[in-house]
Amino acid sequence: MTHHADTVRRGTRLSHIGIAVLALDQTLPFYRDVLGLAVTPLDDTDGARIAGLVAGESLVELLEPGRSTNPIARFLEKRGPGLHHVCFTVDDLDATLARCRSAGVTLIDESPRMGAEGKRIAFLHPESTGGVLVELSEY
Ligand code: CO
Repeated sequence: MTHHADTVRRGTRLSHIGIAVLALDQTLPFYRDVLGLAVTPLDDTDGARIAGLVAGESLVELLEPGRSTNPIARFLEKRGPGLHHVCFTVDDLDATLARCRSAGVTLIDESPRMGAEGKRIAFLHPESTGGVLVELSEY
């Protein structure tokens, strides 16, 4: 019997939550030292510095904008530090986006784009998701 990786259904999972912070070194000690989450290296994206912390099968990502004008910097200016987005990994990103579209969900990315770790991602507008910026990622 042949198994094809792209036909294995793993189900939608919580991939990570992104928290916008003013300074990593002020916030990281709580998650790392007090909660005891292990740090995992992540590439910086959009000019933001990211600290990844392993929480079971999901990650907590602390997002520090630094000096560049990226979406995290704009979020911090408007809203201050806090929950920035929730990311779900889905089996079939294109099919999920198609379902979003037919359900009338407002898409931020009309089609998937390349995110961190070389995976295709797409963002959904908070107005359709209970007020939370939602990122979808493929496995
Ligand atoms: Co993310």
